[in-house]
Amino acid sequence: MLIVLLGPPGAGKGTQAERLVKEFQLAYIATGDILRSAVKSGSPLGQQAKGYMEQGQLVPDEIVVGIVQERLAHPDCAGGAILDGFPRTVVQAHVLDNVLGESGKGVNRVIHIDVDEEELVARLTGRRVCRECAATYHIKNNPPRVRNVCDRCGGELYQREDDSISTVQERLEVYKKQTAPLIDYYSSKGLVTVINGNQEIEKIFSDIKAALEKDRA
Ligand code: AP5
Ligand code: MG
Ligand code: ZN
Repeated sequence: MLIVLLGPPGAGKGTQAERLVKEFQLAYIATGDILRSAVKSGSPLGQQAKGYMEQGQLVPDEIVVGIVQERLAHPDCAGGAILDGFPRTVVQAHVLDNVLGESGKGVNRVIHIDVDEEELVARLTGRRVCRECAATYHIKNNPPRVRNVCDRCGGELYQREDDSISTVQERLEVYKKQTAPLIDYYSSKGLVTVINGNQEIEKIFSDIKAALEKDRA
């Protein structure tokens, strides 16, 4: 089962992915997380990606596609995977289709998490992320048990550099121009399920779960 989580910044892709990988025992591929750890380590990939990410722009397709291709070849992806934040352009979607097609596979379901724009800004500016395991919290909506400490691993929580109000606005524009066209791309293949993302985290999770269980049946 190969599932794509599609939605604007702050829609809750990471929040839902965390729950879905456990429920469905899938590998988890989040290009944003992979790129952020490359930036943190100062690797050549990180050096290339840093500037784009800080400005809220997409990292060039060639770079991101290479990362995902390599990751999909890992044995842990054999049983399926959740893609969070990839593909993000029509070019990336084409490459993904070609790569999967070579082994007779394809994207099985695209979950489009739809959320109102003012809510997205509030979610992003209040988000906190674990430095160690990348678990995601929100100061109001989903606070950790102890302030600034990760429930899962005890790591320190921080605010992502691209969660400042001006960069958030840029990311939302980039989403509309470059990523939203994927909704039509996958709709024409009959793969999209729209989920109302303006609900509580657990309700969204059960809606997504119901959609995926229908596919599995
Ligand atoms: P990436 O890390 O993928 O960021 P994004 O797409 O902007 O999405 P976010 O991670 O901000 O939001 P999310 O939907 O995961 O929401 P979350 O669950 O955290 O990408 C970052 C950058 O990397 C890009 O800008 C780009 O530069 C680069 N990049 C990555 N992939 C790329 C690609 N394929 N091509 C090119 N460049 C790429 O939730 C947000 C907050 O809301 C949290 O605080 C959470 O607790 C809270 N929350 C979640 N659900 C709810 C709810 N239902 N109600 C209330 N609060 C909620
Ligand atoms: Mg995320
Ligand atoms: Zn943690």
